[in-house]
Formats: sequence, structure tokens, C-alpha cells
Amino acid sequence: MTLQIIPTSPIDGQVPGTSGLRKKTHVFQQPHYLENYVQSIFDGIGGVVGKTLVLGGDGRYFNAQAAQVVLRMASANDAAKVIVGQNALLSTPAASRLIRKRGANGGIILSASHNPGGPDGDFGVKYNIANGGPAPEPVTSAITQAAAGITQYCILTAQDVDLSQPGLQDLHGMEVEVVDPVADYASLMEELFDFAAISALFQSGFTLRFDAMHAVTGPYASAILEDRLGASPGSVLNAVPLPDFGKGHPDPNPIWAKDLMDVMMGSDAPDFGAASDGDGDRNMIVGRGCYVTPSDSLAVLAANATLVPAYADGLKGVARSMPTSQAVDRVAEAQGLDCYATPTGWKFFGNLLDAGRATLCGEESAGTGSDHIREKDGLWAVLFWLNILAKRRMSVAEILADHWARFGRNYYSRHDYEALDTATAEALINDLRDRLPTLPGTTAGPLTMTEAEDFAYDDPVDGSRTTGQGLNIRFDGDARVMLRLSGTGTEGATLRVYLERFDAEALDLDAQAALAPVAAATEALTNLRARTGRDAPDVIT
Ligand code: G1P
Ligand code: ZN
Repeated sequence: MTLQIIPTSPIDGQVPGTSGLRKKTHVFQQPHYLENYVQSIFDGIGGVVGKTLVLGGDGRYFNAQAAQVVLRMASANDAAKVIVGQNALLSTPAASRLIRKRGANGGIILSASHNPGGPDGDFGVKYNIANGGPAPEPVTSAITQAAAGITQYCILTAQDVDLSQPGLQDLHGMEVEVVDPVADYASLMEELFDFAAISALFQSGFTLRFDAMHAVTGPYASAILEDRLGASPGSVLNAVPLPDFGKGHPDPNPIWAKDLMDVMMGSDAPDFGAASDGDGDRNMIVGRGCYVTPSDSLAVLAANATLVPAYADGLKGVARSMPTSQAVDRVAEAQGLDCYATPTGWKFFGNLLDAGRATLCGEESAGTGSDHIREKDGLWAVLFWLNILAKRRMSVAEILADHWARFGRNYYSRHDYEALDTATAEALINDLRDRLPTLPGTTAGPLTMTEAEDFAYDDPVDGSRTTGQGLNIRFDGDARVMLRLSGTGTEGATLRVYLERFDAEALDLDAQAALAPVAAATEALTNLRARTGRDAPDVIT
């Protein structure tokens, strides 16, 4: 084994987005690309001398090789210890849990989340801090700065470390501890939820399909849902993680989890369906004949939280990202809870959770979580629903209908326009931003605008201000639209248009029909079709 110091120079585009650095896999495979970024993480956090890190990934193509590079670089940079998931696997929530439980200084998660994997797919590297959550703004900027000024990296030349069995090993003076990726996470779930009640639910004949989408959640879901809780064998579909996710797109929504949706909308559908994404932090919830939007799911969890042992004493507060529907706000208001609206991305929830201001957090993009870790957590959301169903003994559709009858319904949908020409997309947003001050009091299509803002967030805990987080326009009649550009795409620009309208009386409309006036107003406001040349969104969720 020899220690090498390799001269290098900065590589364009090494700037983390909404969730870590995400690029095409072949970009990460270029000489020095991964090494530069890993060294920049180490430099950006003030070095790793004597530190303990957690390491794992979602099992996608290049995960195993990248993990070996991180281990050799951690050793060369004098880290004391790396705790790594067996076969370099860890779901994002399990990594967050492990960082917290072991008191590690931070962790590296190899994942591009729900983006497809494979040689032509995407790869990603995320750094999480000691609280187990995504690196907040000051840390990501320090990493970006380090990447922009990098001149060398340190790496060991060594054989691959055998990660196939749990146990301790030495890598040139650094301890490598290989751990079962599921055990700690599963025991945390058992602490939080009423496993006896959920087991009894399954014993009573309740049926479930969980689609792991050939991504990292498979082993977790099999161990917890089937082995511990007694869901019948075969309840977990696509349970074996594959490097290309079986050529699928591991994003748990009605478009990409269509097979599960078809089953759930069929005549002999099981009682409950769910899915998770590439790295296990997203969730999809669907009842028999009844899809639950992530925004509604967050509101239902908040309204029923005291049925779960971990939240039996009530919530400290709730938080949602700004584009997420305001359904949870109504629950918070009814229960007298504080409710925060943050920019898109989980990193903004960390401070609220650490400060004890919020217990539940969620995003419209199928991310929900709580203060049990500092990441969103797919399987946790599924267990939360199962705990509610076990206690209330109603169907998912009945729970949703009951919720809307109490709180009214926030009709909600996101329209994505993908792989747009970047300049076109930026111009559309910039032009609209310039016009924001003139909009209140004027009409757009069928609606009158009441407020228009370029969303900025003042973090109530550390006082930091984050600007330019999306254009938020409110209309008469309790409706709004938000527009922003994605920070996770790897091709051109993705424009996200978030549509919302509240209705206290009409609770059973088709969402797209209910939102048609908001969509028409948005088209009138942006001239989106002509400007982008697109007749319709690429993805509607
Ligand atoms: C998307 C979602 C966002 C989520 C992020 C990471 O980011 O919209 O809510 O936190 O993925 O999973 P975006 O592509 O919109 O920047
Ligand atoms: Zn994810």
C-alpha cells in the first residue's frame, strides 16, 4: 500500500444542487472527477483527520467502485474510521440513522436518488453532517469553493476492501467497520411504531404490496414488512437491488410506479400499496382505488400522529417546502401548531428539527420524515400509514374522505417540463420575476392575482437568508401557482409548475379538472406553450 498525492485541477460544474452533486455516470467515471469531489468534501469540512465517517449508497451502477475510492481517500486523508454498509449499501435514511447513532462526524451517500442508474444513467455524491442531515448551505458552499480551488488529492493505492461480510478491518491505519445495513434502521422503526398493532392488522387478513423498484429499500422492506410484521411472503415486489434498477426509473409516483398503480386500481387490489425510490427516502402511498398525494399524506400523518407511540404526546410543529400544498397548514392551524414553509430540499428542515421547532416535515415530491433522523424516510412513511390503518381500521379512501370532510381539500398537482433548453427556461422565469411587482390586482386568464413573490427564506434558527427559491403567485379563490427550475436534473432545464386550489365543499373532483383555472391562468401569465414549444407537461404528478 502506498500513499499518493495526485496533482489535479478544478473541474467545471462541481457544484452541488438540491441534493448533492448529481451528474451522468460517465461524467463521474472521468479521470479525477470523483476523486476531486471527494477531496473537496474533505477539504470543505476542514479535513477528516481523526474523524469517523459513514459510507454507503443505493447500489446503483458504479456504487461499489466509488465506495472503494472513498475508502482509499478517507484513509489517505487520515480519517480514523469509516462505518460502511455491507456491499457498500445503505439507504439514505439508514445512513442518517447510523451517523446519529454512532456519533459520526458525517457521512457520504452515493446516490442520485430517484434518477435512473446504469452506464447511461445518473450517479451522485451527497455529504451529510453530524446531525445526520444533508449538508446545509454554508457547508455546501465551502465544498464548492474547495472544488473550485483544488490542486491535489490524496489516495491510497491498495486492494479493494472486502465489504461482503460485517466485521472490522484495517486499511493502512484506518478502521473500516462493515455493518448490516438494515439492523439499526429496523430497530429504530420498532421503537417508533406500534409493531404489535400492525402485526395484528396483517393477521386479520390485511393485504399489502410494496414496490421496492429494484432499489435499495428491498432488503429493508422484506426484513421489516414481511419478516418482522408478518405481511405475507411476496408482499414486497422487485425486492432485489439491481445496478440499473431493472432498467426502471426508481421514482415512486403514479407514472414510474405504474405497475403498482395498475394493481391498486384493479378489481382485486390489495388493501394498501406503497413504493420507495432509488435511495429509499421517498414514498408513494396508495389505497385500493385511491392514490394519496404526498401533500395530502403529510397532512393525514400530522392529523393522526398521536396514534403512533413516538408522537403520542403531540407534535412540536410541522414544516413543508414552499411548493408543497397547504393541506398540512390547515391541520396545524386546527391543532395550534407552528407551521414552517421552507425552500425546496431537505437540507432546510434540519435546523427546525434540531431546534425542536418541528416534528414532521414533508415535500410534495414524495418526501416525508420526522425528527427520528434528519432525512426524509420512505419506509417510515409507509409504517406510519400502517400504524394509522391498524388503529383506525378504516380503508385509505375512508381516511382521506374523512380528512377532507374535516379540513377541506387542497387540490394539487405538479406539472414538469423536462429537458428544456436552459436559456429558454431561465428567460421564462426571469421575465416573470421582473413582472412580479406589477401583477397583484391584475388578471391572468380566468383568475385575479392577489400576491406575487420571489420566495426567500429566513431561517428562524440560524438567521440565514436564502433567496430566489421560486415564483409564488396567489389568486383570488384560495388558489396559487409556483414556478421554479429543478436543481437535480442532469440534462437541460426542468421547469416545475406547482398548481393548488382549496375547496371546502366540492371534495370529489378530478384534480386536473379542479385545477384547470389555475393552469389556464399560468399559461396566460407565462405563454409557456409558445415559449417552450411544449403542448403539455412531460410528467404530471
Ligand atoms: C427535487 C424535488 C425536491 C427534493 C429533491 C431531492 O428537487 O423537487 O423536493 O428535495 O428533488 O429529492 P428539484 O429537482 O425540484 O430541485
Ligand atoms: Zn431519494
